[in-house]
Amino acid sequence: MKNIVILISGSGSNMAAIAHAAEQDHWAERLNARVVAVLSNRADAQGLRVAQAHGLATGVLDHKAFDSREAFDAALIAEIDRFSPDLVALAGFMRILTPAFVAHYAGRLLNIHPSLLPAFPGLDTHQRAIDAGCQFAGATVHQVTPQLDHGGILAQAVVPILSGDTANDLAARVLTQEHLIYPRAVAHFLRSIDSSRA
Ligand code: GAR
Repeated sequence: MKNIVILISGSGSNMAAIAHAAEQDHWAERLNARVVAVLSNRADAQGLRVAQAHGLATGVLDHKAFDSREAFDAALIAEIDRFSPDLVALAGFMRILTPAFVAHYAGRLLNIHPSLLPAFPGLDTHQRAIDAGCQFAGATVHQVTPQLDHGGILAQAVVPILSGDTANDLAARVLTQEHLIYPRAVAHFLRSIDSSRA
């Protein structure tokens, strides 16, 4: 069985979309894969309750309890590795990762970012796209590499930017597409593990 660990910091709607797809599309039978745990750096992340409602194991590791980014990431690796992950999916996990963390999960670490990468890496993507006069925005599922919001692109979705859009309007439009492309990209990734192991 291929194990998926999902990391969140907030509402966890992308995590829920993946958990829902895993149930609805019978990933256990069809892809020999399952979501094994949802971990958060914030105890108040709403997504933790959503994960529990899906019957998933949850855990919290508060980054503020650690002296350094390196110490937090080392503890996070230990926590994640209890679940023997074949895939670690970042889903609104709002932490910059150390090179050691990224290297540890090289080739099995995915992220979703709310822009059409390579445009607008980093934060505040929707307002930046509006301010730049872009006519389209979107989201990208990508492999995680040491450089923030870079790495091979697995999937993208495009939405229009409409006149008068606020950043919140655009974020909501993009998020509905994130919920479609992330589960699909994860399923595709899981199938590709099978073919590379065959
Ligand atoms: C999503 O829009 C995701 O793309 C973004 O945070 C939101 C999390 O929503 N991620 C980043 O900005 C990462 N740099 P969710 O918690 O409801 O999935």
